[in-house]
Amino acid sequence: MILDGKLDASVQAAAAALQAGQLLGLPTETVYGLAADSDNDAAVAQIFAAKGRPASHPLIVHVADSAAITRYAKEVPLFAQQLIDAFWPGPLTLILPRLPHAAKASTGGQDSVGLRCPSHPVAHAVLQACQGLNPPVWGVSAPSANKFGRVSPTTAAHVASEFGDALLVLDGSACEVGIESTIVDCTRGVPVLLRPGAITRDDIERACGLRPLSKEELPAHTPRASGTLLAHYAPNAKVRLMEYKQLQAGLDILGADARNLAVYHRSPLSTASRNITLRLMPGEPQAAARELFGMLREFDQLGVQLIWIESPPDTPEWEGVRDRLTRAAAAA
Ligand code: TXA
Ligand code: MG
Repeated sequence: MILDGKLDASVQAAAAALQAGQLLGLPTETVYGLAADSDNDAAVAQIFAAKGRPASHPLIVHVADSAAITRYAKEVPLFAQQLIDAFWPGPLTLILPRLPHAAKASTGGQDSVGLRCPSHPVAHAVLQACQGLNPPVWGVSAPSANKFGRVSPTTAAHVASEFGDALLVLDGSACEVGIESTIVDCTRGVPVLLRPGAITRDDIERACGLRPLSKEELPAHTPRASGTLLAHYAPNAKVRLMEYKQLQAGLDILGADARNLAVYHRSPLSTASRNITLRLMPGEPQAAARELFGMLREFDQLGVQLIWIESPPDTPEWEGVRDRLTRAAAAA
């Protein structure tokens, strides 16, 4: 059932559902989440079951404000606090040392916890309403509301199409950011970028004075992170990332016979086929991120077998979009 997230009655109903241990489709500024009370292990287990996600892949705990950090994290290093001050509420998740009894099932028993304070007004209203309940719900665990490995949802209708009408979903319109939050591991003394997103490496460096490391630069293995698996975000069609020249050469070879193919391109292309779907990728990374997952779903709905995508620039602003595209292509 989809409820209008702008209505106070919907927000109250959503908070009550979370308190009662039920699942909720929750809009955030990044993507829609499949939410449950972080400290209710049985409710959290339902998230893993509904998504088909292995319990060893930890969930992000969403909080109403930075005061709620003390309920989940043992300590907050200075650079993490600077990132919180600069970017919360907003699309940034911090991995921090976990308090022993907090969010056990959500974190898969790891000694760290991922915390994020979303800026979407509906998410914020729900999290605040949760804090006001008796007993309060301090944290809401929410992975992206898609089946494991599939494309993340950016509208309430996407969520309903993944999980059916039985799930309560708050409609908060289309997500502004469109790709999941940037994840920074703050448990290693220096910031480590686990997942790129709208908040870029440069943004992080400006806010805390430290250039984030990539996880490949770490000596030891990082915890399992499904949003960081190589093959992820898979549409049904096979995705190939290509440079412009390769793309045009491919279209030339196929000629007028090309069909069952969608092309998401940045540069002008020509094709002799009338049966190809051509879509132009926005020139700005923020706009490209906003429509990316919806576009992959749209291509799937057209029933194409192949999606050819022109590689975006290899610059920090495009890192989030490139990351999602690379992994969508790796799933083929
Ligand atoms: O934008 C987002 O972050 C969205 C919205 C709903 O807030 N949520 C999201 O959740 O993308 P999910 O579960 O699809 O991705 C969470 C990522 C996973 O890669 C997970 O492994 C990682 O965060 N993660 C969570 N807790 C972690 C921890 N303690 N250590 C390392 N990685 C962690
Ligand atoms: Mg996900």
